[in-house]
Amino acid sequence: MHPLQCVLRMQRCQSWGPLASVSWVLLRTCRAHSGLPSTACSSPERQQEDGVWKDFSSRLATGPTFQHFLRHASVPQEKPSSEVDDPPPYLTVDELSGRQRKVYLETYGCQMNVNDTEIAWSILQKSGYLRTSNLQEADVILLVTCSIREKAEQTIWNRLQQLKVLKSKRLRSRVPLKIGILGCMAERLKEEILNREKMVDILAGPDAYRDLPRLLAVAKSGQQAANVLLSLDETYADVMPVQMSPSATSAFVSIMRGCDNMCSYCIVPFTRGRERSRPVASILEEVRKLSEQGLKEVTLLGQNVNSFRDTSEVQFNNAVSTNLSRGFSSNYKTKQGGLRFAHLLDQVSRIDPEMRIRFTSPHPKDFPDEVLQLIHERDNICKQIHLPAQSGSSRVLEAMRRGYSREAYVELVHHIRESIPGVSLSSDFIAGFCGETEEDHFQTVSLLQEVQYNMGFLFAYSMRQKTRAYHRLKDDIPEEVKLRRLEELITVFREEATKANKAFVGCTQLVLVEGLSKRSATDLCGRNDGNLKVIFPDAEMEDVTNSGLRVRAQPGDYVLVKDFSLHQ
Ligand code: 5AD
Ligand code: SF4
Repeated sequence: MHPLQCVLRMQRCQSWGPLASVSWVLLRTCRAHSGLPSTACSSPERQQEDGVWKDFSSRLATGPTFQHFLRHASVPQEKPSSEVDDPPPYLTVDELSGRQRKVYLETYGCQMNVNDTEIAWSILQKSGYLRTSNLQEADVILLVTCSIREKAEQTIWNRLQQLKVLKSKRLRSRVPLKIGILGCMAERLKEEILNREKMVDILAGPDAYRDLPRLLAVAKSGQQAANVLLSLDETYADVMPVQMSPSATSAFVSIMRGCDNMCSYCIVPFTRGRERSRPVASILEEVRKLSEQGLKEVTLLGQNVNSFRDTSEVQFNNAVSTNLSRGFSSNYKTKQGGLRFAHLLDQVSRIDPEMRIRFTSPHPKDFPDEVLQLIHERDNICKQIHLPAQSGSSRVLEAMRRGYSREAYVELVHHIRESIPGVSLSSDFIAGFCGETEEDHFQTVSLLQEVQYNMGFLFAYSMRQKTRAYHRLKDDIPEEVKLRRLEELITVFREEATKANKAFVGCTQLVLVEGLSKRSATDLCGRNDGNLKVIFPDAEMEDVTNSGLRVRAQPGDYVLVKDFSLHQ
């Protein structure tokens, strides 16, 4: 092995751009990746379609109104994926079909939305739609949206203005462009979107993606259609998401949906509904398939991923209930029984020891010792924990209804670090929450200094209607103060992350190769166990699994990057 010069850059840590001395060995080569189904195809038989749709339009003219869809649309529950939904009385199976119309999907917001986009696409693909990555040739444009902050919604309103131009150009076309708003914004604003933007044709809330073929069929006749019903049990357990990138080394697997925490600032319980978990068996089946396809990393997803509780079988209710993290409480009555997160994590991590397991986004209250122990013991569970603190002030935490004090949170951090030596920690913080004083803000600054997170996500508070804070508290911190405090938090976070991430220097890092670096064609990029982005030269190296043969690393290979040192 030859020591080589390379760069290791830590994500979100601009002030630190070290040059490093590195040598490496290839641990294993990747297996074949599964391909995406082709999106290229011949155009639909438009003439025949025209007749069918005229007939359909006349039937609809005396049929249901938009209000009908809001009130009566139901979300069909779990069906085997091969089964086609029965059409409603006013549609034939043929009318329900996508007939090779091309769909362009655009995703905003969190990783749940990335996974939801794959679910929505999987449903549409089965219904006869094709996928396009070219906006100009799309027959249907679907935006998978986010509502968490005002800014996220403003981005969508702006995008709709651009799409309006595209749509008006297509007005006289035989296949007019249809536009849909999916996800959290559809759920939060409902008809308001249709009233404000007449060019929007369909709305589908996060629990209504199975209904997309019907909504699009109705929209094709020129009517607006919506389904924003939330479900108590929809988990899309039987819908195998279609991976966007055929060369991907990692995938998201949704394990639960919704949130019962009701933090006072948060819109999520209103847009994504109540907590419900997917049956363990269906999760294991999906992870097994991904492993067979050669994927090397799975991220278990959920709004409260570690509150996972599978109650799908009666005997699971006798399972021993797990404790909350020490010093933490929840806003709801303790839920008894069900297979919990530790059980799932254990089972998932046994499927393929070469497959890395991550999970996000957790709540600090649900880290009982058995979860920490498992992360410590199991080699393929990444030693990386996201621990959203939101504030360093116990007073603000109480106003946020987070269910813990600063002291309990700090104690948990110590306990995690003792239980999982070398663990990477990340967090979310909100600057300028209702009533936050300079002293409260200083407490957050001091928490950042005390914990020294490896990664962080920091936001200015954005008041959301419907939330408890909207009804009971006053959004009284001026915008400029929020932004100033946010800037201060970002500066302190960066300084501390730089210090924390220097601890990786000089240690051997196991990096999962993702592909060529975006910054340089001669470098590769990948992630270490702690989820930090590592960039290193694309050079020949020793393959330790193949009697020392010299090879170039490929996406999906693990590479040992060692002898790392900082050059200022
Ligand atoms: N304003 C600002 N940030 C918010 N978050 C959630 N709701 C709001 C809000 N109303 C942040 C929290 C959460 C992350 C996903 O987004 O920090 O953990
Ligand atoms: Fe945005 Fe939250 Fe909805 Fe994700 S769940 S898209 S973060 S509002």
